[in-house]
Amino acid sequence: MERKLRVGILGATGMVGQRFISLLENHPWYEVTVVAASARSAGKTYEESVGDRWKMTTPMPEAVKNLIVMNVNEVEEVAQGVDFVFSAVDMSKEEIREIEDAYAKTETPVVSNNSAHRWTKDVPMVIPEINPEHFEVIESQKKRLGTTRGFVAVKPNCSIQSYAPVLTAWKEFEPTEVVATTYQAISGAGKTFKDWPEMVENIIPYIGGEEEKSEQEPLRIWGKVEAGEIVKAESPVITTQCIRVPVLNGHTAAVFVKFAKKPTKEQLIEKLVNFKGLPQELKLPSAPGQFIQYLEEDNRPQVTLDVDFENGMGVSVGRLREDTVYDFKFVGLSHNTVRGAAGGAVLCAETLTAKGYIQAK
Ligand SMILES: NC(=O)c1ccc[n+]([C@@H]2O[C@H](COP(=O)([O-])OP(=O)(O)OC[C@H]3O[C@@H](n4cnc5c(N)ncnc54)[C@H](OP(=O)(O)O)[C@@H]3O)[C@@H](O)[C@H]2O)c1
Repeated sequence: MERKLRVGILGATGMVGQRFISLLENHPWYEVTVVAASARSAGKTYEESVGDRWKMTTPMPEAVKNLIVMNVNEVEEVAQGVDFVFSAVDMSKEEIREIEDAYAKTETPVVSNNSAHRWTKDVPMVIPEINPEHFEVIESQKKRLGTTRGFVAVKPNCSIQSYAPVLTAWKEFEPTEVVATTYQAISGAGKTFKDWPEMVENIIPYIGGEEEKSEQEPLRIWGKVEAGEIVKAESPVITTQCIRVPVLNGHTAAVFVKFAKKPTKEQLIEKLVNFKGLPQELKLPSAPGQFIQYLEEDNRPQVTLDVDFENGMGVSVGRLREDTVYDFKFVGLSHNTVRGAAGGAVLCAETLTAKGYIQAK
């Protein structure tokens, strides 16, 4: 690459936006040149607008402190200074769809963390280790939008990352039924314990919209490209309960699986630890060397010990054992704001760059 690609972050002042800023510090391919947020933040330096809202454990990178925050809604102005954008704004779904399309129409690719476009038929929703071939639908999307290089690509919900990669690794044994309960961290709601003191020593058995996403999004990830659109898979059937727990970062899932072709425990572990995809083949900058690790100890994976496996880009699995009602059960863990949000989107962008969909303007 002759020069680093110029990146804009829409929603840069929020929890996911801050994670993008942290992950992109010293990125070998990308440089953050524009930070954008609501009119409330626009016109101030990034440091001033974030103030005491900085939620990362690492310090705010020097390179962004003095960038003047732009208004996300001033699309042309933001688009002028970047080669592509990451989207992490918190607006209504309709507004997000509208603004992401508006960026694409300025010939600025959008890699989004938001759910607004996850079911738009010609918008790829990708976990790069699983379904990078879905990026093919970008060609039909560009025809619809009337663009030559602008498009929207999205990553799926954070909740599915602790079990969808696992079930993919076991595809040849044909999972038919899946029951998953997710135990989700408060950062998934953009919060810390300081912002959400009610969560200390508490559990809330409801996360709006999360169960439908957790049941349906894996099927789209496993879908096929037909006539420029994604057609979702029909199986396995998945049922979930999503529960908010007093954890800062890390979504855990307790999962039961029934297979059409029941394997042995050894076969399942072998498939997990050898599961690789395009990011590993291409050695992309943010790709985990080991995508899924299997932990033999009965008390793993644990959030505090395992959430940062492979810099938060890997998935940790443990407690795999036969079940009396289903065939097997296991526990999975992934980092919700790294693999599940900003890191997953950065890996999508790296895949898109490697495949030539994102280039310098
Ligand atoms: N947290 C997670 O783990 C996670 C995971 C997956 C998906 N998501 C999704 O990602 C998005 C961002 O989440 P978050 O947790 O980072 O939220 P957040 O901390 O509340 O940040 C929201 C960002 O959007 C900006 N914003 C809010 N209203 C706006 C408006 N009307 N116009 C322009 N910008 C506006 C805010 O700017 P100001 O600072 O100027 O208000 C801020 O930069 C949400 O849609 C969320 O559902 C989050």
